[in-house]
Amino acid sequence: MRRQWWHGLTAYQIYPRSFRDSNGDGYGDLQGITEKLPYLKELGIDLVWLSPIYKSPGIDNGYDIADYQAIDPLFGTMEDFDALMEKARELNLKIIMDLVVNHCSSEHEWFKKACADPGCEEASYFYFREGRNGHEPNNLRANFGGSIWDKVPGQDNLYYCHFFAKEQPDLNWFNPKLREKIYAMMNWWLDKGIAGFRVDAIMCIGKDPTFPDFEPDPLGDGRCGCGAMNERCNDVADRFLREMHERVLKPRNAFTVGEVFCLNKNNIERFIGEDGNFSAIFDFAARETLTAHCAYFAYEKLPVSKYREVTFRSQELTNDVGFLCPVIENHDEPRGVSTYLPPLWHNARGAKALGTVNLLLRGVPFIYEGQEIGMTNSRFDTIYEFKDLQSHDEYQKCLAHGLSEYEALRILNDEARDQCRTPMLWDDTLNAGFSTGIPWMRVHQDYPHLNVKAQMADPDSVWHHYKALIALRKNPEFKDTITYGRFKALPDPNGHTLAFLREGERNTLMVIANFGEGSVTFDTYDTARPLLTSGEVHLNAHSVTVAGGSSAVLLL
Ligand code: NOJ
Repeated sequence: MRRQWWHGLTAYQIYPRSFRDSNGDGYGDLQGITEKLPYLKELGIDLVWLSPIYKSPGIDNGYDIADYQAIDPLFGTMEDFDALMEKARELNLKIIMDLVVNHCSSEHEWFKKACADPGCEEASYFYFREGRNGHEPNNLRANFGGSIWDKVPGQDNLYYCHFFAKEQPDLNWFNPKLREKIYAMMNWWLDKGIAGFRVDAIMCIGKDPTFPDFEPDPLGDGRCGCGAMNERCNDVADRFLREMHERVLKPRNAFTVGEVFCLNKNNIERFIGEDGNFSAIFDFAARETLTAHCAYFAYEKLPVSKYREVTFRSQELTNDVGFLCPVIENHDEPRGVSTYLPPLWHNARGAKALGTVNLLLRGVPFIYEGQEIGMTNSRFDTIYEFKDLQSHDEYQKCLAHGLSEYEALRILNDEARDQCRTPMLWDDTLNAGFSTGIPWMRVHQDYPHLNVKAQMADPDSVWHHYKALIALRKNPEFKDTITYGRFKALPDPNGHTLAFLREGERNTLMVIANFGEGSVTFDTYDTARPLLTSGEVHLNAHSVTVAGGSSAVLLL
């Protein structure tokens, strides 16, 4: 495998509006991020992904972009961005931006011009289609509910397509002029010194421009989720992604991580092979398994054994080809500890053991803000506390399905994207040190004891465990094995254990995380050396015993 500059890094995702508010307006901002970069450095982070900070009406919290080359005033100014980059360079931290180019905002000047004159050039940057027999052009359902079609304002029978909210019109990638504009914009940001992009919802650009009807899915509204069209059109997306790769990314040696959901042995080479469309893609195997139903109310809890099965399958898939980015959570998910672990381990012990798995799998792990202190889901008491538009759509789906408001709330508390969007918990002062104003979102109720300051002062905290894990990833003796070593699954003795080997050229590591109640024992054959443990771990001459909610990394 050809070695790349980003192999072996540890990455961190910042959701800017919830990270650190420097001016007391209740929203996180760029100066707040700059202030905290040394904190990330201290944790050991190498690369930081910023969720969108571009000019946006904020319908989807910045994933609806009105100007790709301007900073939203909510977050600051372009000077603030330049200062952030300067600080990042000083600390040797790489920054990547969110690339959101399946759609823009209905406030983007392209869309405004297109609506004002559907015959103008900008209209061809979008999918404008005539209605069929007084109805929308086809029966696809948007990701945030309702049809993917809305009428172009002022037009009787002309619709535009949006796979997400109606304020997020989809861009027509079949138009070469549009693609050129996107590539120019990407180069502009790369010229500013960013290291690459996290590529948003990109498989959605694979479309069938004839927009046929699809077989309705079980939700019962006569529609079919729009993802069905993308699944059929992966080759279309691939064609455009290849061009983007050749034209922009490859010549700049930029790092990209794709938000891609359908990795398998047939497409892996094309996605993340030696000359793949992306540097890496997130491992969403567990997420995909959990959400393989058409509404939150139909999701089923994932047992640890299933989490293990799908996570290990991804690892085995990438033993010979490519790099994944292991994640346990991001801004589109509830907290990983609350989602994937049994209730017994929704605490610091569980968080440490899950972190051990996340950071020792093969790939470039992304830690999401708050994960490093073991944040769990918080408790939302009313529907009004949920800010995300998808949460409100899913709430309505629950009610339409016949669930009570109480049941709908319980489901949202388990599944809502809001769970990962609550403010970062810095200390035990007002609003957890996130803001001196009124936070845009409720602060997690546990902040008086669960916060960065308290954990940095406690050598036994989740934070220190993450710091130690990252340090282990960088340790010259093990770095090569952790980065490139083969993944080999070990058996699961109690149905709740993830155990594996990382086999490198110089050494072999054994990783065990037990999420059961009782302990598990593994043969080590010879005396193993413990490199890092959490919870209760006992080493014997030829074996190791790991108690429930505990983890071990051993040198064999
Ligand atoms: C994926 C992003 O992560 C999510 O937050 C957003 O709502 C959709 N793409 C649409 O951009």
